[in-house]
Amino acid sequence: DTNGSQVKTPMAINDAVDQAKDVILSGGLVAMPTETVYGLAADATNDSAVARIFEAKGRPQFNPLIIHVSGAEMAKAYVEFSPMAEKLEQAFWPGPLTLVLPRREDSPLSLLVSAGLDTVGVRMPDHLIAQTLIKAVERPLAAPSANQSGGISPTRAEDVRQSLDERVDMIIDGGQCTIGVESTIVKVEDDNVTLLRPGGVPREDIGCIIGKQLLNAGDAKIEAPGMMTSHYAPDAVMRLNANSQEEGEVFLGYGKVSGSGEFALNLSQTGDLREAAANLFSHLRALDRMAAAHGLKTIAAARVPMEGLGEAINDRLKRAAAPR
Ligand code: TXA
Ligand code: MG
Repeated sequence: DTNGSQVKTPMAINDAVDQAKDVILSGGLVAMPTETVYGLAADATNDSAVARIFEAKGRPQFNPLIIHVSGAEMAKAYVEFSPMAEKLEQAFWPGPLTLVLPRREDSPLSLLVSAGLDTVGVRMPDHLIAQTLIKAVERPLAAPSANQSGGISPTRAEDVRQSLDERVDMIIDGGQCTIGVESTIVKVEDDNVTLLRPGGVPREDIGCIIGKQLLNAGDAKIEAPGMMTSHYAPDAVMRLNANSQEEGEVFLGYGKVSGSGEFALNLSQTGDLREAAANLFSHLRALDRMAAAHGLKTIAAARVPMEGLGEAINDRLKRAAAPR
């Protein structure tokens, strides 16, 4: 059933999770809400189920998947935790931080999950429905964002329906995602923590916990295979750091820099970066639809400050604007 309504009451959650559990255990795909974006989930220990994720998204096979766990205890059956990894897990789980850790030799995960790497990305989502489902199936769920590869990430069940509809066996509607951008991904090697993707946990917060600066992927020459330059791409062309809306444009404002009229949205009028992150993908989708409907070619976006969640927002805007 991919057309259900929003699942809110404890009873409705249990019913949806029971049904989703059967789908997952029989090798199917379930789109589930998390606090960041909707994930396209499958049993991470089942090769053909994981293969179906790649197929449904049109995702290149060299791009590894994040596994979603019920906590550090479950994670430890699949990856090696160093003291630094423990520290990060204790500070940020559940929540939007993915740890890239060495894959255990005896790990029963599908090899497709790590796409040939000797590491695995793991996270514990801070969302009741995702958590209940992981606990019910008693194994990790591999889950990329539930959108066609390269497209805008989904923050509502409706977005998943539009992007993947008949390619998923079930969509659990948990309403709008509260964080709205994907998890921050860090690679942990001994005492070094390298930022592979900015996301829902600001770099500064991680720095506070580890007592030093994060390395950048560029410095450490680490490959983040999925960090393709063009990603999150709307159909319209993007113009960044716009000061005002020009003829033929729809406008994505931030703070006091707003467009005017019906073809303008604002990420956060008060300049609140959390609000801006939560609105980012749904506003991009809405503006893209407006542009298409009215023959406008460009989405112009105001500048967003590069602090806190602003780093993740700017990363997504830059990729949305990249040549395809
Ligand atoms: O918030 C999120 O992280 C969402 C929700 C659903 O949990 N998931 C998500 O997954 O954003 P996805 O597949 O859209 O992005 C995962 C990124 C990719 O860029 C991939 O290359 C990278 O994580 N990744 C996964 N495993 C990795 C590994 N072992 N080493 C380096 N990068 C990895
Ligand atoms: Mg994605």
